[in-house]
Amino acid sequence: MIIVRTIAETKQHLNVIRSGGKTIGFVPTMGALHEGHLTLIRTAKESTDYVAASIFVNPIQFNNPEDLMKYPREEESDIRKLKEAGCDMVFIPTVEEMYPVPDTTVFDFGHLDKVMEGKFRPGHFNGVAIVVKKLFEIIEPHQAFLGEKDFQQLTIIQRMVSLLHLPIKIVACETIRETDGLAMSSRNKRLTPQERAIAPVIHQILEKAVRLRRSRSIRQVKDWVYREFQKFPAFTLEYFELVDANTLLPAEKWNGNGPVIGCVAAYLGKVRLIDNIKFF
Ligand code: PAF
Repeated sequence: MIIVRTIAETKQHLNVIRSGGKTIGFVPTMGALHEGHLTLIRTAKESTDYVAASIFVNPIQFNNPEDLMKYPREEESDIRKLKEAGCDMVFIPTVEEMYPVPDTTVFDFGHLDKVMEGKFRPGHFNGVAIVVKKLFEIIEPHQAFLGEKDFQQLTIIQRMVSLLHLPIKIVACETIRETDGLAMSSRNKRLTPQERAIAPVIHQILEKAVRLRRSRSIRQVKDWVYREFQKFPAFTLEYFELVDANTLLPAEKWNGNGPVIGCVAAYLGKVRLIDNIKFF
């Protein structure tokens, strides 16, 4: 696996790969890699000829300075894991390489970045879109692989690709879970053993909520989820929303315009966890 740290070197290397007729798959990450990321690499490997990953903790997508400071940085083990998963190249730029001057681009995603994560993390998705656009311009992949755990991020990146007419296929990959159901996330490492033990409750509540779909209305399921979280005082529920999976607008009926997805964000101690479940 090739390790590159500059944009010039990355472009030069990938131009050679592209001119050799190979398709490029891309997995953008912020490092602290877990099985979820490695599954993206393996999926990319199955459908493209050459897999590039990036490791970059993007400062402009953190609206909480403590979260940025505490974000785990594990370059050495990340490189080893990528190699083992069959990744061909990893791009690991510095902040100066990515932002020689501040990038002040403002995207208009309509309501997509105003709800749920966007409401509680102002500016977050603009920061994500800026860095992903830059990474796409540097790597120029044929396909990019993103996890469904960050469902809203996935929707926004898909929108950005359409808005900018980028010739990149976005491949949505299923959330990878621990055996007890907890969605894999780099943030899980920051949970205390007690918090880690209770964390799977999030997925358990979501699964029960899906089972209620047959007998209860959208409003009733939403209220039920809020009440369930109250039974676990370790959690501070930030939001639970049932939205149309295509538009992210609040779902009004189970069989309305599009499929319904339930999205949740909750603090467990100081760690903010997100998850989602499809109601279709
Ligand atoms: O999901 C992430 O890890 C990040 O938001 C991403 C897409 C790599 C952009 O920094």
